[in-house]
Amino acid sequence: MNISIVYESKYGNGKQAMMYLENILRKKGYSMQLMSIHEIKPHSLPESDLYIFSAPNAFGKIVRSMRKFLEKIEIKNSSAQYILVNTCLNPSSSQDKGLEQMEEILTKKNISKLSEGLKLKVMAMKGPLETEYEKKLDEFVQTIQSSLKM
Ligand SMILES: Cc1cc2nc3c(=O)[nH]c(=O)nc-3n(C[C@H](O)[C@H](O)[C@H](O)COP(=O)(O)O)c2cc1C
Repeated sequence: MNISIVYESKYGNGKQAMMYLENILRKKGYSMQLMSIHEIKPHSLPESDLYIFSAPNAFGKIVRSMRKFLEKIEIKNSSAQYILVNTCLNPSSSQDKGLEQMEEILTKKNISKLSEGLKLKVMAMKGPLETEYEKKLDEFVQTIQSSLKM
């Protein structure tokens, strides 16, 4: 099982979370790749069974750079799946549509949703991440593992 984590992170909070996630998944035996959207071209994503896309909100939406990236991606493996992570100030806000927007773009692509995405709270614009973020990501890994088995 090959997993690619593809992230955008303005201040490093999302990157920190994705580095933690990569480490746990690698320890579980998955073949992992971690990359920023600025390190690759959207039409040359590495082939993977699962893509984890992570990005912050800006002005109630998903940050523009990730939106543009997702709009341009090409998925070659027709059985590929995705799961999303979104860093934001207020995960319970119904005004912020970051996760929904990413999902909407991906419905038009050759990829299916593995399971519901995760919202991670940042305590202020530049962070830090909520103290519970590692626990939330540990639980997220369990969700990923059990969904992959289904
Ligand atoms: C210009 C700007 C607008 C933002 N707007 C929102 C917003 O509408 N909703 C929200 O939850 N967070 C907003 N944020 C905060 C981001 O969620 C936060 O900076 C980001 O999650 C931090 O993660 P990062 O370090 O990975 O970039 C905004 C941040 C900036 C810089």
